[in-house]
Parts: sequence; structure tokens; C-alpha cells
Amino acid sequence: MVDRKIRHTMRVVGHVQAIVAETPPLEELSEAVEVAALLHDAGRFPQVVKHNSYDDHATCNHAEVGARIVMDADLLDPLPLETRGIVLSAVKYHNVAVIPDNLGTEARLVLEVLRDADKLDALRNSLRYLDPDNPNSKALKAGLTWDADKFTPELRNTPWTAPSSHTKTYNGPMTSHCS
Ligand SMILES: [Fe+2]
Repeated sequence: MVDRKIRHTMRVVGHVQAIVAETPPLEELSEAVEVAALLHDAGRFPQVVKHNSYDDHATCNHAEVGARIVMDADLLDPLPLETRGIVLSAVKYHNVAVIPDNLGTEARLVLEVLRDADKLDALRNSLRYLDPDNPNSKALKAGLTWDADKFTPELRNTPWTAPSSHTKTYNGPMTSHCS
């Protein structure tokens, strides 16, 4: 499980680098967004060690835990003060349903890039699970069978979107402690 999260983190770093490379105005923020991507799931590690789960609702808010870990470990000390704040807010809020209103322009931008990159990787997993030949297919897990003839071509070609009840997005109070 830990190895899977490390691979996810490195893919998210790659996604933010690609987004920055295609968006020149973001270049000034490249350090903040790359560091945020690298650290965004720091809270997953104590979560999985303690609970063997990545379910925030059943365990803890991994984003808040991650922000606390990053802050307590002084990992950001080499960065300018403003960049530290931007990175911390990106880590802390990368899983919220609604971005807080009180973030500065740069903090908001870094957070949005991180969230997009994180979702890009989640989308990759969703599409992978839709493959009817995948033994871990979510459709199969849910007891559904796959019969391509029962779907219209339009439906088959429409990207899958998780129902809101199935998303992992944080949208309510839950414990922020995993220790
Ligand atoms: Fe996360």
C-alpha cells in the first residue's frame, strides 16, 4: 500500500510539472507546486500504518495530518516564508470539496494545480478499473456484470464519473488525528 502511494505521489509530481510547462505564467510558482505535489499525501503514511486504510471518513483527514507533519518536520525551512505558507495550504486543502475563500491568489493557484494533478491520477485509476478484463474492476466488485451489448456506443465512450457518494473528497468534519 505504501509503495502504491509513493508511485501516485511521483505521478502527481509529473502532472504538475507538465501543467507548469504548458502554462508559462505558472513558472514563478513551479517550486511551490512541485514541493506541494511531493508532500501532498504525507498524511497517508501514518494513516495506513495505524489503520491500514486510506478512508478519511473512517480514519482521519490525511490532508490536515500531512500539513501538520510537514510543518512539524521543518521540511520547508529552506524555502522563502511565503512559499512555505503556499505549500502548507496546498497540502492542507488538497482534498476539500470547496476551496476556502481566504487564500491569496498564488496559494489558490498552486492548490488548484495540485488538485487538478491529483485528479488526473485518480482519473487514470478510474479508467483502469473500467476495463472489463481487469480482475479488480469496480463494476465486478459491485456485483455487476459487463455486457458490452447492453450499453449504447455513447455510454461506452463517455468517461466515467464517480457518484459523489463514492468520491474521497473531504466535505465534512472528521477526525484529523492518525496517531
Ligand atoms: Fe491526498
